[in-house]
Amino acid sequence: MTPWGIRNRIKGIVGGADKKATRSDDELTLTIVLPTGKEYSVKAEPRYTVVMASQTLETPIATGCPDGGCGGCTIDVLDGSGLAAATAAEQKLLDEKWKEKPTFRLACHARIIGSGARVKAMSVWTMDTTRGT
Ligand code: FES
Repeated sequence: MTPWGIRNRIKGIVGGADKKATRSDDELTLTIVLPTGKEYSVKAEPRYTVVMASQTLETPIATGCPDGGCGGCTIDVLDGSGLAAATAAEQKLLDEKWKEKPTFRLACHARIIGSGARVKAMSVWTMDTTRGT
């Protein structure tokens, strides 16, 4: 048996042999439209929030609180396929802030459960916002 065969057997025993293939199968795709109109396709692990998925962008979706209560991460859902339904906590905040905008969601709450979602970010972090200018 070659050293490569030994490695593959060990990976098979500890579960790493097909990790790469499994990982790519588990990755989901989401399209984020920035306020500028530029669109980016990002990959995300299942159950990531839209905010978490946006962290790979140069200008991720802006957030304003640690507990999901400010509404600063509002997104407009252009295609909601692939997003879990709003939780009761998110829906309560949406009803308070955006009752007249049924397509709005909170990116820090909206979880990705499948591919195909398309969302428009209302505000993003930029170098100017992080510098405070
Ligand atoms: S960051 Fe405050 S509600 Fe999402």
